[in-house]
Parts: sequence; structure tokens; C-alpha cells
Amino acid sequence: MDKGNPQEEEAFSSSSSQSHVLIFPFPLQGHVNSMLKLAELLCFAGINVTFLVSENVHSRLLLHSDVHRRLSLHPGAFQFKIYSDGLPQEDPRSGHEFLAHLLICLKTTIKDFFLDNYALGPLGLPTCIISDGVMNFVLDVGEEKGIPVIYFRTIGASSFWCYFCLPQLIDSGEIPFQGTDMDLPIQNVTGMEGFLRRRDLPSICRSDLNNNPTLQGIMKETLQTRRAWGLILNTFEDLEGPALLQIRTQIPNVYTIGPLHAHSKIRLAETIEMKKDVVSSTSNSLWKEDRSCISWLDSKPNNSVIYVSFGSLSILTREQLVEFWHGLVSSGKCFLWVIRPESIVDGDGGVPIELEEGTKERGYIVGWAPQEEVLGHPAVGGFLTHSGWNSTLESIDHGLPMICWPYFLDQQVNSRLVESLWELGLDMKDICDRLVVKRMIDELMDGRRDEFKMRAKHFAKLSHKAITSGGSSYSNLDRLIEDIRSMAHKRI
Ligand code: UDX
Repeated sequence: MDKGNPQEEEAFSSSSSQSHVLIFPFPLQGHVNSMLKLAELLCFAGINVTFLVSENVHSRLLLHSDVHRRLSLHPGAFQFKIYSDGLPQEDPRSGHEFLAHLLICLKTTIKDFFLDNYALGPLGLPTCIISDGVMNFVLDVGEEKGIPVIYFRTIGASSFWCYFCLPQLIDSGEIPFQGTDMDLPIQNVTGMEGFLRRRDLPSICRSDLNNNPTLQGIMKETLQTRRAWGLILNTFEDLEGPALLQIRTQIPNVYTIGPLHAHSKIRLAETIEMKKDVVSSTSNSLWKEDRSCISWLDSKPNNSVIYVSFGSLSILTREQLVEFWHGLVSSGKCFLWVIRPESIVDGDGGVPIELEEGTKERGYIVGWAPQEEVLGHPAVGGFLTHSGWNSTLESIDHGLPMICWPYFLDQQVNSRLVESLWELGLDMKDICDRLVVKRMIDELMDGRRDEFKMRAKHFAKLSHKAITSGGSSYSNLDRLIEDIRSMAHKRI
């Protein structure tokens, strides 16, 4: 299926630039968000971009983000190509099961679409493909047609490295786990021996190996990264240096260009000479942002609010929801909480009767928030998060301490890094209890607030350094752009 906008394609064909990058994200919020930011940066560097998205993602981007306004700044340089992900439109698109369905579709529908459509429009073959690093059929096409494929993994370097080490974990017998002690230290993720326990490995390591297609799939895909021309990671050297050192022993050409949300703002501000209206709002949201929460935050003192969001995929039981709710209300702090309408699996998301008063006094609940803006708001003093990689980076860049309640996959690794390596907050891992929620909020917002704030400020500085001129991410993005340009010249 191909329903690209004809006007866009017309304009695209008249562009004179020779570099043409095909960008292919996995069709989920976190992946599309960061890869769309990279697409925009490439367009600003004079590189043509074709962006492959599912029909579902595309229609939601049009409805809820300002992507078309932003991309209109690049007439002739950007086009969407749209495919069906093979799932019914009304599918809830959350949780483990949805991910498993999407992975199955990847092997058929999405792969077929790619094979039929990678040579796009009048410009013919792309000069380079940037593919989400979970789709190795793209590598096959690249090798066959002589098109360099650069992988982009939207997770952090440390969790990527954990995935890369899965064969060693299996060979050494560290997974599957024998016995029930989840606090045993892990020895076979080189460089992370000091702090990684069983419970901090990606959640896929918790189930039986023989009946675990997700683990087998992720392991296979990750090991294929060696075949790619290079690897782009949304991270920065000062944040994940040790893991990057290990990755480079296997994959020498790594471009760390993060945190992309902040990096793209800085670059766009430079490029379009401070057109602030474009730069300050760069939403790639797939849900409607409820901006009323910003006015609510405006009425609160600095550092007084805890922001709660569990990302775009996680689902909670009613019981878990109620535990968080009790903890939040009894902490006595103001809280802004994102509860996605479809994210509660049994029962509704309504306020428990005994908590109505406390919620009315101190709480504000939305279905989806303008998160980057919320995290940068002076009223927000802490973030209760599911430790998705984008959320983690956004929090670090804004200098906000975190309480982590990881849901799945890489989030288990990220939350451990936050508590034990970076000392930026607390990891609630595997516990969902109202008393623990309250205690951690007390510690984060009061008891250990100065200690966490100081660490958070330190990492925010490092983040800023990475993405400003001369910094590691800034230089790596320049190198990536130069490499993409030189690929086009080689084809002439
Ligand atoms: C998951 C993984 O955990 C992540 O590490 C992986 O790379 C992609 O899939 P997800 O649940 O989407 O991620 O979380 P996260 O990576 O944090 O991304 C969520 C994005 O949605 C963030 O950029 C965040 O700013 C945005 N968001 C979230 C909003 O804009 N508003 C909200 O209310 C909530």
C-alpha cells in the first residue's frame, strides 16, 4: 500500500540534492519520535528523506502533532511513505501482547512492503538507509543492492549491550535463572558486573528460553548489527561511556548523537535563526496532548510537583493503579499524572472514592501530556517513570531526579542505571506498594532531594555539553551527515 501525499512527492522529485536517505522506524511512539527528529536534522543539512510509517502512526501524527507544519519548512526534501501494519485500526496497541503481534507483522506485512517499496519515486534507489535495528531484512536488501544500511537503535547503549551479550548469558548458564533469587549478581555482561543483578536484565530474560520468541528475535536482530555500516544511538558519551567502549569492540562505527530531543532543538535554532515558534514546540505525539496541565503547573511553586507517566506502551491493572494512587495522595505532594485511556486492563481509571478529596486538592490527571514541556517546567521537582529510554533521557537533560517503575524490556536495565550507576533517583523495580510509593516520593522530593538534585544538575550539564558545538554528540552528528553525503557522491 502506498498512500504518500502526491503534493509532497511532486515537490520531492524536483529537489536537486543527491543524498537520499530512507528512514525506517519500528512503528511505535518511542521509535518514531527519535527517528523523526533525526529525519528533520538531515533535511536541514540538505539531505532528502523518505520516512516509512504505518498508516496508524501517520494518521495519529497528522491529528496530534505539528509534524506537517515543521516539515513544510523543507519543501521538496521530505516525504512520508505509508504502509499498513496489518493490525486492525481499533487494536488497543499497548502492552506485551500488542508488541508480540507487531513483531509477527514485521516478519510478513512490513517486510513485504519494504521489499516492494525501497526504491522510491523518481529519485530511484536511496543512497543510504537508516533502519531501526530490529529489522534485519533491510540489511539483506542493502547488501544485495549495494546501499549502505546504518542501524538506529532507540534504546540506550547499556541495554543494547545487554541484548548483545545474550549468547554469553545463555552459554554460561546465567539465563534461564536457576532458583528464585533475583538479586544474584550477573557476571556475563562485560563492563556491567559491578551493579547488574538478575532483576536488572531486560525482562525477556525472565521467561523460559525455549518458549520465548521475543528473546530469540531480539537476540538474533541485535547480533546482526555487525553487518550494518554503522550504528546510531540516542545517547551521549559521558552518560554511557563504559557500555559504548564494549560495543565498539564489536561494532567500531558508532554514532552517539543524543539526547536527540534536545540536540534537534539546538540545531534547529542555529539553522533557522531562532524561529522560536518552530523550535520550542516539536511534538511527535501519537495522542492528543492535554495542554491544560501547563496552566495547572503554572499555579504551583517551584519543585513542588511530581510528574507521573508510564510511557506509550505500558498497561496497569486496577490494583496497581490504586497502589500508586494511594502512595501519591498520602505523600501530600502535588502530582500530575498521565493515565492513557486504554492503559488500565481491568476496571476503569476512575478515582477511588476514599482518595477523591486528596486528588481534587493536589492532583491533576490527563490522558497525554506535552511531556518535554512538562519536564522543563519549574514546578516539576521529580519524575515517577516507567524508565522508557526517551523518558529517561528527557529527564536527565532537564536535570530531574526519577523514581523508576520499569514495565518491560530495556526499562529494567535503565532503572538500575538511574539508581546505582548515575545515582539520579530510586528504583522501585518489581514492587508496587502504596507504602513504598509514598516513601520514595518522600525521599526524592524531601529527604534526599539536595543529593539527587545535585547529581541531576551534573548530568544535565554533561548532556548540554554533548549537544553543543564541539561536544561529542554534536561532532558525531556532523560526521554522520558527512558520511551520508559521501555515500551519495560514491554512487555518481
Ligand atoms: C519503549 C521503550 O521503553 C523504550 O526504551 C524504547 O526505546 C521504545 O519503546 P515508551 O513506552 O514509548 O518506550 O517510552 P519512552 O521511550 O519513554 O517514550 C515515550 C515518549 O512519549 C517520550 O518521548 C515522551 O516524551 C512521550 N510522552 C509520553 C509524551 O509526549 N506525553 C506523555 O504523556 C507521555
